[in-house]
Amino acid sequence: MMKAMGRLALEGGPKTIDSPLPTIRNASGRTIGDEELKRVQRVLESGNLAYIYGQTVSEFESSFARLTGVDHAVAVSSGTAALHTALVYLNPDPGDEIIVSPITDMGSVIPILYQQAVPVFVDVDDFNQNLDPNLLESAISERTRAIMVTHIFGSPADMDPIMEIARRHNLVVIEDCAQAHLTEYRGKIVGTIGDLGCFSFQQSKHITTGDGGMVIAREDNRFERPLRLCFDKGWPREKPGRDHRFLAPNYHMTELQAAVGLAQMGKYSSVISARRDAAEELDRRLSGETGITPVGTLPGCKQTYFYYCFRLDLSRFRVDGCRFVSALRAEGLECELGYPGPIPLYLYPMIRDKKTFGSSGWPFTSPAARQQWEYPAGLCPVAEQACRETVVLPWNERLERHHIALVAEAILKVCKAYREGCA
Ligand SMILES: Cc1ncc(COP(=O)(O)O)c(C=O)c1O
Repeated sequence: MMKAMGRLALEGGPKTIDSPLPTIRNASGRTIGDEELKRVQRVLESGNLAYIYGQTVSEFESSFARLTGVDHAVAVSSGTAALHTALVYLNPDPGDEIIVSPITDMGSVIPILYQQAVPVFVDVDDFNQNLDPNLLESAISERTRAIMVTHIFGSPADMDPIMEIARRHNLVVIEDCAQAHLTEYRGKIVGTIGDLGCFSFQQSKHITTGDGGMVIAREDNRFERPLRLCFDKGWPREKPGRDHRFLAPNYHMTELQAAVGLAQMGKYSSVISARRDAAEELDRRLSGETGITPVGTLPGCKQTYFYYCFRLDLSRFRVDGCRFVSALRAEGLECELGYPGPIPLYLYPMIRDKKTFGSSGWPFTSPAARQQWEYPAGLCPVAEQACRETVVLPWNERLERHHIALVAEAILKVCKAYREGCA
């Protein structure tokens, strides 16, 4: 039932949402049931849980490759592992540079650091908070090897100009689709536009295996070593005996994860349409509120709503983003200020303070690098402002109209209470 808008819960008034909304943290916001159970049971009964002796992981890989329309898919243990596998495949020299967005998960940057390459942050487009193609060219140096493009929140980056620049400079494009399963950019599924596409199946993603990931590629001969060896200790298992051709981690997905993944594959279309319906309903309910604007999606593209995000016009409110989010939380709405938090990635200690390998500060200070790398505040001003002004709502396929009515009510209540000029 709608409660009269009034005093904020943060200031002692009644809470708008007094029973929990569906969440990805448990069954209330996930679609996991009998089919997953049956497939997992089959694997358990087989007595083999390991990728190297089973068929379930390779079935999951084939199914994902068919869905995305590529020739090659390799399943791994997480989204971070997928991006690391892609970088092991690329095989940069220490000190080489990888262009990356400051608005992404740390899982995009960790693999760059483990490969002793350097992340070069390029600011984002204010409209959709994805890499700004207009700023890309000036960040390219003779050491740049790849552009890692995150499609943030489920909304695609502007791939046409990015690909044009990449091709002109002979750079590899790695698409980070962890948040953008089946997102479409002008008729193409993201992950299939660049050279490699990387996905995460962590608990909050469109489909989940708890943790897990996938790398897809149209061709598997872009570099001198096969993609499959890049997450398997550099070991060509089809040959008898041991061999380790090059340095590579073990990021196997298990048969149990793949069993869940296979069952989840059939749910993509209902999950994505439910996420979209809920987002459109919230768009509609918030459309009259002038102080907030949903984060944009490029024309001709289809967003898949990993999160629902809106931007605050702080000139219209008498509080900052932090207070606004605290008030929403007090109303019972789970939300965060900014992604990946109120500051962009490079301001977290791992990067800003170079907390990497012992006290070396490598790769940022490595003699192999072109320069000593620093990541001060102000490096990507558009991203920094976006992090301070964006409200991020976790989203899921179980949010129904009556839930959205409450979400909108909470947001509009906080907007009204903090509108500039209101006492
Ligand atoms: C954009 C992005 N990239 C990479 C990752 C890393 O994925 P995982 O958590 O599965 O390692 C995430 C996870 O949230 C993500 O959102």
